[in-house]
Amino acid sequence: MYTQKMLRDDALKGKTIVVTGGGSGLGKAMTKYFMELGANVAITSRDLEKLKNTAKELENETGGNCLPLQCDVRHYEEVEKMLEGVIEKFGSVDVLLNNAAGNFISPTERLSANAFDTIIDIVLKGSKNCTLAFGKHWIDKKETNKTILNIVTTYAWTGSAYVVPSATAKAGVLAMTRSLAVEWAKYGIRSNAIAPGPFPTKGAWDRLLPGDLKEKFDLAKKVPLKRVGEHQELANLAAYLVSDFSAYVNGEVITIDGGEWLVRDSSIYWKQFRRKCGINWKR
Ligand code: HXC
Ligand code: NAP
Repeated sequence: MYTQKMLRDDALKGKTIVVTGGGSGLGKAMTKYFMELGANVAITSRDLEKLKNTAKELENETGGNCLPLQCDVRHYEEVEKMLEGVIEKFGSVDVLLNNAAGNFISPTERLSANAFDTIIDIVLKGSKNCTLAFGKHWIDKKETNKTILNIVTTYAWTGSAYVVPSATAKAGVLAMTRSLAVEWAKYGIRSNAIAPGPFPTKGAWDRLLPGDLKEKFDLAKKVPLKRVGEHQELANLAAYLVSDFSAYVNGEVITIDGGEWLVRDSSIYWKQFRRKCGINWKR
């Protein structure tokens, strides 16, 4: 049921989509579904080998086109080069999906200034770099019917202890989403966001539940629906938001978390987390 595909087979035919961080996890799941719906997809990240393997795997599985391009989103010149590569291959680009992210769990006072910067640079500066490069391109070329979709989290508006750099950066991305929804609507560019709750991926689980904590702490228990998300559920929502079916949705953030953020009490959650995992974070 949760893994059923939502849109008709040609829903994204003719569209070219760039998915940052598309070589793994949720980016890969969304890429696969976009390809199944007829889109050309470029996937980007720091690790070209991983991207090439993913592209090959998804092309074999879907029969679609997937272009792997190395690009560290922290560097504007790399983003501009990546955009050039996409245009060279596909002729134009219709959708930017800012999915790349970095995160780790830590008491904030133990973070070095560089550790904090690293997360801000990937998440906020990286999303800004891609948004600015793609937006300038579309506006300059007078191309319309374009979409930016940003992956944030529910703690973008609640904040969250122990993942403060990520919460700070995602809040910035959400503010950018809503601001540009207004400012760039006149150019035919929509901006929306998705705030996922827990969706198991190696990247997120290794960083947020390091070591054997994955076995000790069941994230499904803190979700009112008592389960974590299925990747296809997120892919269905993302495909809708980048398709023309959502042409009147602009400036929205859609939460897909089983109701988790509404019952989250950060202090109780972290107390339980520390007790269950035997972590002593007191000084
Ligand atoms: C404290 C840490 C740390 C940790 C790294 N640092 N890991 N500090 N706790 N666990 C510090 C380092 O000591 C260094 O500071 C600085 O951060 C940069 O570290 P590097 O390893 O040099 O960075 P880099 O190679 O650029 O790697 C970036 C990374 C890494 C973020 C540290 O984890 C990564 O590549 N992540 C990408 C994938 C990812 O994180 N996916 C999860 C997304 S999940 P010093 O001062 O020593 O130089 C997500 C879920 C949200 O966002 C919500 C879920 C419910
Ligand atoms: P993931 O697999 O670790 O995805 C993160 C991706 O970002 C990786 O492919 C990584 O690729 C890429 N990346 C990291 N730093 C980069 C950089 N400097 N330049 C370019 N790419 C970079 O984790 P995920 O769970 O799928 O996360 C995907 C998105 O969902 C993120 O925005 C995350 O915040 C969000 N999210 C996830 C959850 C969840 O439960 N999984 C919940 C809420 C929000 P490389 O390492 O190859 O560069």
